[in-house]
Amino acid sequence: MSGDGPRTKVRLKDARAHTASSQRWLSRQLNDPYVQRAKSMGYRARSVFKLEEIDERFGLIKRGRIVVDLGAAPGSWSQYAVKKGARVVAVDLQPMDPIAGVTIIEGDFLEAETEQALVQVLEGQDRVDLVLSDMAASSTGRKLVDRLRAEQLGEAVLTFAEAHVGQGGAVLIKLVRGAEAVLQQQAKTIFRSVRILRPEATRSDSSECFLLALDRLPAEGTPAQEPGSLR
Ligand SMILES: C[S@@+](CC[C@H](N)C(=O)[O-])C[C@H]1O[C@@H](n2cnc3c(N)ncnc32)[C@H](O)[C@@H]1O
Repeated sequence: MSGDGPRTKVRLKDARAHTASSQRWLSRQLNDPYVQRAKSMGYRARSVFKLEEIDERFGLIKRGRIVVDLGAAPGSWSQYAVKKGARVVAVDLQPMDPIAGVTIIEGDFLEAETEQALVQVLEGQDRVDLVLSDMAASSTGRKLVDRLRAEQLGEAVLTFAEAHVGQGGAVLIKLVRGAEAVLQQQAKTIFRSVRILRPEATRSDSSECFLLALDRLPAEGTPAQEPGSLR
């Protein structure tokens, strides 16, 4: 999906009131067609268009599917999934304004008690259909450290997905470039199909990419179903 047509560049009226980096951020926000579009459609973040692009291509989110949204705040991915009829459990370190149809857990996904709270909410569901992770550790500016932290988050998501995603289910994980090699190998032992994507709405100067793993293989001791049997 591409952005809207050419627009007049918005300039800050009182640039002196802002530091150089906040000026750059504000100017980028004001001139970003995805930001404008998200706002006009009632979405809380521009990142919704990354999920939309991937969903339109791979048909991940459908009515009745159970979706876990990790790193969910401010909430545009949850808003999108609920709009499409999914049942959503959202987790974030930050508080998040309520969304009808979304159960919100505030906590660090890397902490055992957050995962316990998540498992409790999911109790009674026979399986999770889709795990989404847009989690990003704040950048240290050091490439290696940032890559290792992204790998750590990605591994924790894959471990969670291995335990909770049902056969045929899927996981989408945001990573930074360089972290995908290790995780791709790990994902291939759990899912039939694994690919790396960079949606059009990704900012051109961003080092992020997404790992999409489709069609969870049967867990050991589980009778096999037809491939790609996400409900
Ligand atoms: C890019 S934002 C997510 C945007 C969201 N997908 C949306 O569409 O509104 C990344 C989020 O990940 C959260 N996050 C980062 N590390 C986390 C962790 N360890 N546990 C839970 N949330 C985390 C941050 O608090 C932040 O809100």
